[in-house]
Amino acid sequence: MWWWRTRPIWGALQSLNTYRPNYLPLPTDDEGANPEALDEILRRNRVKLIYLIPNFQNPTGRTLTLERRWSIAKILVQHEALLVEDDPYGRLRYAGDGMPPIKSLAPDNVIYLSSFSKVLSPGFRLGWVVAPEEICQWLVIAKQGADLHTSALSQVIAAEYLAGGYFEAHLPAILDLYRRRQAAILSALHYQLSEVATWTRPEGGMFVWVTLPDDMDTEEIYWKAIESKVAFVPGRFFHIDGSGRNTTRLNFSNTDEHKLVDAIQRLANVIQSA
Ligand SMILES: Cc1ncc(COP(=O)(O)O)c(C=O)c1O
Repeated sequence: MWWWRTRPIWGALQSLNTYRPNYLPLPTDDEGANPEALDEILRRNRVKLIYLIPNFQNPTGRTLTLERRWSIAKILVQHEALLVEDDPYGRLRYAGDGMPPIKSLAPDNVIYLSSFSKVLSPGFRLGWVVAPEEICQWLVIAKQGADLHTSALSQVIAAEYLAGGYFEAHLPAILDLYRRRQAAILSALHYQLSEVATWTRPEGGMFVWVTLPDDMDTEEIYWKAIESKVAFVPGRFFHIDGSGRNTTRLNFSNTDEHKLVDAIQRLANVIQSA
């Protein structure tokens, strides 16, 4: 994988980096982002934008609890702060109860984003925004400046797909697939890596976040795993400061159960020998 030597940061960080922001990391735990820490950051700093992935977060798979959603909504209103709520994974829930978007709890303080990439086709390059009217107007101008126009063909196909009820019919099939794949990877992790690693157990989405002992470096492990034909994303690429070296994101969405079990066994061999 030659490319991440030249592209060491991904996704949201990569697009935000263009504007050379001063990042202030928000601590998170198994319940998602920490509201008290957010309050503290907003008290001490002038923050232009807050960014959160509330459901089955990329990379950890964690979901923000309902209680914290309410707390964060109140904090946003109190500080007159603006949150980007990035929610491409929310519909991929295959266990437990769904939760309201923070957008519904603090409508004037949230720009809500979602995408067809995880539930229909990433190649369509289609997503949507729900934002306060004034911000929407600015977004339209900024988007025209960035790419002139989203493909009309993709939009028409997606619109027909939704209107024809095909999306709601398709969703249970992918949920069933991901549920089975996640069960396979979690059970393989349990049998192969319980002694050296801990990991998240999300109720949906595509990711499991694995933490190894502090002195292990998942980037080094990556190069050895590749020789065994297993790939993953080392955790440090999701951190703004290069930390998280002992963590890794495993994606189970595109590999069948047998291959997943085999892959975790191979990965466990590499980790044990490291
Ligand atoms: C947090 C997050 N937001 C959005 C997306 C979807 O991006 P796009 O709609 O550009 O394909 C992804 C996909 O990896 C993601 O992980």
